[in-house]
Amino acid sequence: MNQLEKLKKLKKEKNAIILAHYYQNADVQDVADYVGDSYYLSEVGRDSDADIIVYCGVKFMAESAKILSPEKKVLFPAHGDATCCMEHQATPGLVLEMKKNHPNAKVVTYINSSSEVKAVSDACCTSSSAVKIVENIDADEIIFVPDQNLASYVAEQTDKKIIPFDGQCNVHHKVTLENIKKLIEEHGEVEILAHPECQKEIRDISTYVGSTAGILNYAKTSPNKEFIVVTERGIQHQLKKDSPEKSFYFPYMICSPMKRVFIETIIDALENEKCEIVMDEELIKKAKVSLLNMHKYAGG
Ligand code: 13P
Ligand code: SF4
Repeated sequence: MNQLEKLKKLKKEKNAIILAHYYQNADVQDVADYVGDSYYLSEVGRDSDADIIVYCGVKFMAESAKILSPEKKVLFPAHGDATCCMEHQATPGLVLEMKKNHPNAKVVTYINSSSEVKAVSDACCTSSSAVKIVENIDADEIIFVPDQNLASYVAEQTDKKIIPFDGQCNVHHKVTLENIKKLIEEHGEVEILAHPECQKEIRDISTYVGSTAGILNYAKTSPNKEFIVVTERGIQHQLKKDSPEKSFYFPYMICSPMKRVFIETIIDALENEKCEIVMDEELIKKAKVSLLNMHKYAGG
């Protein structure tokens, strides 16, 4: 039996599903039952009747799946430290201090954060749902944690007052206008598609700004054939699957924590039911409120 047959058999025997983010290694995306952006995957995990979820992504994603479905076994088959850099930036103490300074504000926390920070937040959001959640939450002042770039993207689209934390994604924030100009020199004035974690100067020259799923949808439906894509390079796999005839040019953008899941680690985790996400019950209870509010305010 080859690896893929073994995986298929294990999934059936254990009533398991595999979820993978678009930044995962290509072969991991290919064995997943569901591939998507953070919002979509949070809904799939919540709604699935599987007994085991194998989450191929970074730690906050697997923990969010566990928080939303504590009765399910969530396996996170990553080799070594697979945490998003933003999981370490905000802390509950810093968020509570911001709350003290802005007593009328509600805290909207990007899902790319620790469960402890989610536990002191009013609602979570993802890049695809952030504007809707800020608009729908019942407050005029919003403390937005931790990504300053997503915060400024949201602020451009709402009349509410956004009070940003000063975190950022190391992969998206470090892309400069110079990097993009160089790609334009090489490939001409093609459409630019960017993730909202990019800095404003990049977003301002982009034809489309949105989540990974949004970028994929835009590229698929656009009549154009060439694009500069300003997000993590793993997305290229799905872009090419959707539109093999189109060309996609990237600045250097690799998220190493996203590249720590392999077919071997998935099989080992599922076979031996290891790499389980185990969380404190009290923490789950507190963090769940903000994740449920995310779905409520996003209408999902
Ligand atoms: P998406 O929700 O757009 O998939 O983004 C997740 C992420 O980590 C972007 O860096
Ligand atoms: Fe986190 Fe950035 Fe990696 Fe996304 S690309 S998981 S925000 S470090």
